[in-house]
Amino acid sequence: AFQALILAFEIFVSAILFIYGWTGFTVACISVTVIMFIRETSLKKKNADYSGFKEKNVWITGASSGIGEALAKALYMAGARVILSGRREAELERVRSACIEQGSAARVRDVQMDLKDPLVLPLDLSRPAEMALKAEEARRLLTMLGGEGRVDVLVNNAGVSSRALAEEMEWTVDQSVMAVNYLGPVALTKAVLGGMLKAGAGQIVVISSVQGLVGLPGRSAYSASKHALHGFFDSLRAEVASRGISVTVVCPGYVRTALSLNAVTG
Ligand SMILES: NC(=O)c1ccc[n+]([C@@H]2O[C@H](COP(=O)([O-])OP(=O)(O)OC[C@H]3O[C@@H](n4cnc5c(N)ncnc54)[C@H](OP(=O)(O)O)[C@@H]3O)[C@@H](O)[C@H]2O)c1
Repeated sequence: AFQALILAFEIFVSAILFIYGWTGFTVACISVTVIMFIRETSLKKKNADYSGFKEKNVWITGASSGIGEALAKALYMAGARVILSGRREAELERVRSACIEQGSAARVRDVQMDLKDPLVLPLDLSRPAEMALKAEEARRLLTMLGGEGRVDVLVNNAGVSSRALAEEMEWTVDQSVMAVNYLGPVALTKAVLGGMLKAGAGQIVVISSVQGLVGLPGRSAYSASKHALHGFFDSLRAEVASRGISVTVVCPGYVRTALSLNAVTG
């Protein structure tokens, strides 16, 4: 209703300007208004899409900050049981508390809300060999809360950036970036895939980057690790699409997070 009021007001102002002969300015004014209105409406529609996550077990890596934290909060509010992973346990606990706090405030307005407390499961993706054990731990935690303990959605969001010319980058840094951004997510995906295939349902998401599509100077390790994700997850999609599992590779542009600050150099 508020949007409609603003729209009506701006059309009224434009009409006045038009009467006084400011045609060009009027056209610009109307165009901006319409674009803003369409944008707001489409954003609202996107928010509504989260409802599909109600009652789902959603495992998010890199949930201790940035995109992962924002996603965890949104899916928690949509009624999903989120499992928060990353290395910094204290930060994961902070996100867990923030979710619960946000939920309590919302419950005051809507007592019907059925929100599920997030679970915290620290892990380090630079140790891919440990991912099978972590998946077993996730299954055990979910089973303790009732149900089959299956992960419905895995969001491979965690990642580390790198910044140095290829000629100056230490070989060990190339290795560690590849481990965190590629080998770790692949190992974790393989660890949950069996459960999804057995159930004939599931969704695997991986956060790549525009740099997973095109390389930039000074970003060879990061860009290579993101390109590798496309090769693996595009192939996986072709293998499992007919068995009830969807695979989504997301390529965000710039998002203001701590990613650049935490970039490994040299
Ligand atoms: N920000 C952008 O502009 C942008 C653009 C395109 C794509 N992306 C991608 O978006 C994803 C999220 O990044 P962000 O922007 O939200 O940055 P961020 O705030 O720095 O988040 C990175 C997350 O990854 C986790 N992480 C890093 N190393 C890890 C490891 N060894 N094991 C487990 N978790 C690890 C971090 O948690 P801990 O430190 O607690 O381990 C943190 O939660 C990344 O894959 C990034 O490549 C970001």
